[in-house]
Amino acid sequence: MGKLAITGGKPVRKKPFPIWPVYTQEEARGLQKVLASRNWGGYPFPNKIADAFAQRFARYHGAKYGVAVASGTVAIEIALKAAGIRPGDEVIVPAYTWEGTVGPVLMLNAVPVFVDVDPDTYCLDAKQIEKALTPRTRAILPVHLAMRFADMDEIMRIARELKIVVIEDCAHAHGGKWRDKGAASS
Ligand SMILES: Cc1ncc(COP(=O)(O)O)c(C=O)c1O
Repeated sequence: MGKLAITGGKPVRKKPFPIWPVYTQEEARGLQKVLASRNWGGYPFPNKIADAFAQRFARYHGAKYGVAVASGTVAIEIALKAAGIRPGDEVIVPAYTWEGTVGPVLMLNAVPVFVDVDPDTYCLDAKQIEKALTPRTRAILPVHLAMRFADMDEIMRIARELKIVVIEDCAHAHGGKWRDKGAASS
């Protein structure tokens, strides 16, 4: 192996990485419009701009409904509450993800049950879910990590059989598709 660039070897990449986050002039104009409206933060909820965004985003994903909220973590907490998850209920989550997947489960005093990931996708391994099920399992919370998809066919099969809910963490899957349908819209 050659010498690493960090220890004086030849760097593979010489160009600096682009500055992040990236935005367009259209987005800058949109932001300016919100600023000038003095109606920030979506209140009274939902404000017109947040609601229009939510409806367009839902349409883009082929989903029936959309609600704009402050963050991915909040979105998952709302979905868990809407699904009636109660203290002590078990929620299947992947063993590899970001804290925003599991934090909302703990916020509701529910119990995250970690299931290993598929080494090909790094997403929840659907083949290993059944051995983690107990009479307290109420939901499966797969994460579509880095735009790879958990096996939704198998996850939906298990959920339908047990009549439990599936809440998809799509924090990395904006615009992504599973079998020609927008992430989390099937
Ligand atoms: C997989 C995953 N789920 C949930 C979240 C939570 O999103 P937010 O930071 O908007 O609360 C993130 C954030 O990076 C994430 O990577």
